[in-house]
Amino acid sequence: MSTENPISAPRTASYEADPEHVQRVLLLYSGGLDTSVMLKWIRDQYDAEVVCLTVNLGQPGEDYEAIRAKAMHLGALDCHVIDAREEFAREYVAPAIKANALYGGGYPLFTALGRPLIAKLAVEHARTAGCDTIAHGCTGKGNDQVRIEATVATLAPELKVIAPVRSWRMGREEEIAYAREHGIPIKSHPGDGTEVQAPYSIDDNLWGRSSEGRWIEDLEHAPEDDVFQLVTRPEDAPEEPELLQLSFERGLPVALDGERLGLAELIERTAEIGARNGVGIVDHIEDRIVGLKVRDIYEAPAAAIILTAHQDLERLVCTIHQNQFKAQLDRQWAYLVYAGLWWEPLRGDLDAYMEQVNAQVTGTIGMKLYKGTARVATRSSPNAVYDASLASFAESGGLFSQSASPGFIELWSLQSRMAWRLRNE
Ligand code: ARG
Repeated sequence: MSTENPISAPRTASYEADPEHVQRVLLLYSGGLDTSVMLKWIRDQYDAEVVCLTVNLGQPGEDYEAIRAKAMHLGALDCHVIDAREEFAREYVAPAIKANALYGGGYPLFTALGRPLIAKLAVEHARTAGCDTIAHGCTGKGNDQVRIEATVATLAPELKVIAPVRSWRMGREEEIAYAREHGIPIKSHPGDGTEVQAPYSIDDNLWGRSSEGRWIEDLEHAPEDDVFQLVTRPEDAPEEPELLQLSFERGLPVALDGERLGLAELIERTAEIGARNGVGIVDHIEDRIVGLKVRDIYEAPAAAIILTAHQDLERLVCTIHQNQFKAQLDRQWAYLVYAGLWWEPLRGDLDAYMEQVNAQVTGTIGMKLYKGTARVATRSSPNAVYDASLASFAESGGLFSQSASPGFIELWSLQSRMAWRLRNE
């Protein structure tokens, strides 16, 4: 019966694949349960060839050789592994730093930044490998499907998309049964292997790590220790504070404690220092673009340090008017990227403004890390709009005249005083 068949369900978008025309699929492969089952499932259901693509964005502890071997063992035509860490840092994380990018006041967008790059690489590889369709492992409830499909539909109107998790109607138990039946290796529990506990849903890269699912969905449940795989629990962090110096040039960090480093390496090293000091844990209630609210546990030690330092330095070198205005554009930038519209021209417009402002953001910020906090301790910049002699309590002449203050206050408060009188008399 065709109505029972998950692959011939009615299609609602122009870029959804017609099963008849699916011949060779580029699968975004992570090596986990979903995409491993998917590899086999696509070959069977669509009678199609599958080429896998695995992208290294700096997720710690991955064995890419093992992932590739697993894909080949499961019948992939080929499996490409790309190290995209530098491109990710330079083209995606760097603009986020310049835009002080945080969504909802706490999420540094690492997943949202990674998806358009992963999807862009999928498009490039689909084209060179002669694929007609791209498959991904995102569910129908999250933001990631939006980011990936919007990218493919924008960059490659000729390519189609399939998202098996949205249609195959298998839960975790059914997937495990499917895997067992088809000889797909699963990481089972060390115990008897009969009860395989659902893991957290993890996504990570060099800019941070997120965990969703299990007890995290229960808002009254405080974080359990096993969720923290990257950051040391603040209470277990060293008793002594650790100091670090971040030097910026034109809005980007270029040196850590005086040592010049490429951006990806600088981020990775900063993450290590932050992680051992318990820095970067965020317990976040988030408004997804697909309507749901969700709770995420984030571990983003590098972002917590670098964004704090960048924002502080930017405030020092910009005027009050620039600082007030840029915060609004920063927010718009973060929202666009969160919402999967990386390729929207407005982001380019905003980036032009970010570049212009960041041309002044040069200097060094000293940070003090201590048991979960990262505070700015020292600042220096050749571009600081700051003059210690003007700010000092001692009487200063020249540019700043205290005797001019009363006249300023009289005019500054004029409208407010008039309105107060009218409303209160
Ligand atoms: N809530 C974050 C976002 O929408 C993180 C998503 C993490 N993705 C995942 N597959 N676990 O960007």
